[in-house]
Amino acid sequence: ARQQGQLISLQAQKGETAFFPGRRSTTLGYNGSYLGPTLRVHRGDDVTMAVRNSLSADTTVHWHGLLVPGELDGSPHQLIASGATWRPTLPIRQPAATLFYHSHAHGLTGEQVYSGLAGMLVVTDEEEQGLGLPSDYGVDDLPVLIQDRQFEDGRLVMPTGMMIASQGRRGNTILVNGAPTPRADVPNGLVRLRLVNGSNARIYELSFSDDRTFHWIGTEGGLLARSVELQAITLAPGQRAEILVSFADGQPVSLVTGQDANASMMGMMGGMGMMGGHHDDEDDASTTETVLAFSPRPGLGGRAAAPVPTLLAARTVPDPDAAVTRRRFVLNMSTEGEGMMGSDGDALTINDRSFDIGRIDEEVRLGDVEIWKVSGRKMPHPFHIHGVHFDVLRRDGDDPDVLDQGPRDTIVVKEAVELLVRFDQPATKAPFMYHCHILEHEDEGMMGQFTVA
Ligand code: C2O
Ligand code: CU
Ligand code: CU
Repeated sequence: ARQQGQLISLQAQKGETAFFPGRRSTTLGYNGSYLGPTLRVHRGDDVTMAVRNSLSADTTVHWHGLLVPGELDGSPHQLIASGATWRPTLPIRQPAATLFYHSHAHGLTGEQVYSGLAGMLVVTDEEEQGLGLPSDYGVDDLPVLIQDRQFEDGRLVMPTGMMIASQGRRGNTILVNGAPTPRADVPNGLVRLRLVNGSNARIYELSFSDDRTFHWIGTEGGLLARSVELQAITLAPGQRAEILVSFADGQPVSLVTGQDANASMMGMMGGMGMMGGHHDDEDDASTTETVLAFSPRPGLGGRAAAPVPTLLAARTVPDPDAAVTRRRFVLNMSTEGEGMMGSDGDALTINDRSFDIGRIDEEVRLGDVEIWKVSGRKMPHPFHIHGVHFDVLRRDGDDPDVLDQGPRDTIVVKEAVELLVRFDQPATKAPFMYHCHILEHEDEGMMGQFTVA
């Protein structure tokens, strides 16, 4: 049922979390001590958010993936001072999708998200509900927010130091929805996982421990046109994927990840103490880590033999010939000494400029289709654009990869990608951001802003 005038209250607050028994850590959360509630909104609704900042520092809440005008976006321009409340009314006018909300206070984003200021935002619509996908939240439709965090003696610690600006904050422990060594009881049947990479910097190569196939059904922007059978999927910070996996065989199995691609890259660049410099064969089981262990149980609900729909969402992709403007972006990290990036005098940039909140980098016309060619240097960078969904036209001068398809808002850039972007949301009162979603790269200046008018 539609709920006009729905009100959702969020309070950013400080708290204590015992990730391990008897070991308390100081953390941040929305309406709780770590992370925030999963928010569900329906296409067509107007949802008022009342976001109270009970922290001692400034914060913002950005609705990552939500298509709303610039002044409602929760970017660094909608700063919520300590003690203040921000009340945007968000018109929900986009297809069903798994979105993500998180702090975006410039210079503090990495620390605040690391400490817990993030949550999941689910958009539903009638079309998706008509497909018969698993949708019993917490039973056969599960939120899986993945984060790596550093623990010492069972307590969460904030990694600091010279390498943080270049490698991003990483950790020795994978949390799912805030839980270390997580496990889930699931029905003996088809289950939908809403995967969100809420890590600051780590890219995951996700698969199942027995290499079973699963069906990829959705990206950041919503459902794919047709489901895709896969055995592995890559998820970079800020990216989401919805998958359907069958537990009908009743066997326990785990979602696992390969080693951190960027960490091994940083290892080669020297100085990566924590992650070591192992370069084992990728197929070697010793290089995988468990993300989430599943125990299938009869009688938990769900539908044992539910079919996987092939056709999902019809969607019109703009014609590349309709593109009126091409823009070029180069994400870079200047290095003065090898392995010494991010220290004084070294800049993280887009097109040779570090972020300046007083400077508008690009001006786009409302309704235009453009091609953005984005390249990255030194390591893979997850590139995110606010206020739009885009399609990948080309990757490294070739056709896009299988994993590049669908409506996206964050994409990993290695050499170069060409993105087909349509700008349908105005950003006149406040600009939109584009940036690397390694949060420390963003905080250190690998970000720009554009108006849409
Ligand atoms: Cu998820 Cu500009 O951020
Ligand atoms: Cu965003
Ligand atoms: Cu980056």
